[in-house]
Amino acid sequence: MSTTKSFNPEKLETKDLHKLLLSAVAPRPIAFASTIDSRGNVNLSPFSYFNVFSSNPPILIFSPSRRVRDNTTKHTLQNSEETREVVINMVDYSIVDQMSKSSKEYPKGVNEFKETGLTEVRSLKVKPPRVLESPVSFECVVDNIISLGDNGGAGQLVIAKVVYVHINSNLLDSNGEIDPTKLDLVARMGGDWYSRVTKESMFTINKTEG
Ligand SMILES: Cc1cc2nc3c(=O)[nH]c(=O)nc-3n(C[C@H](O)[C@H](O)[C@H](O)COP(=O)(O)O)c2cc1C
Repeated sequence: MSTTKSFNPEKLETKDLHKLLLSAVAPRPIAFASTIDSRGNVNLSPFSYFNVFSSNPPILIFSPSRRVRDNTTKHTLQNSEETREVVINMVDYSIVDQMSKSSKEYPKGVNEFKETGLTEVRSLKVKPPRVLESPVSFECVVDNIISLGDNGGAGQLVIAKVVYVHINSNLLDSNGEIDPTKLDLVARMGGDWYSRVTKESMFTINKTEG
């Protein structure tokens, strides 16, 4: 028979609570965020505190948190504050290695497109470039940034409004809609674990009325 472990999160150290939350709230989609600083230096980094929250207006939110280790902020947050634009690229299995490499802590000003070999494509409405190899990219303007705290581990919500969308046309079905079985998206889980969404791992449920 299984038992339940129950406890108050305030009794855990932040690093342990961080691990627990990321293992339990999974799988999480990955925002591969391209930003620029006020000098035009390009940055590209992944964030799995990410989802869609509204379709009218079209709003995506991701969170470059303050580092648990030393309470410093991420370049992506600094750039989002400085230039108020971001391109959110989705991550499929073909670019997981580059995505992982881009998450290394490079010095400010380093362009992770160059470090990873991914291809910059000029955006139409915003200055940060999109990732050519990404299946879907969203050009966004930053509507608002909400800080959830000043301590290490505090989320910083970047509320991004979609102003242009790019979809690899190989992923579209005969109705011009995205075919979920062709996307091959990956998602982040706890620790070093990821999940790959293949046709075999998917299923449908018919909508019930009520
Ligand atoms: C798959 C993946 C998901 C990540 N998700 C987040 C996240 O949601 N929030 C965060 O602060 N860091 C996240 N990270 C870590 C950042 O990508 C990492 O700190 C990166 O160096 C930040 O780069 P920047 O300082 O250039 O913005 C993630 C890393 C990986 C590999």
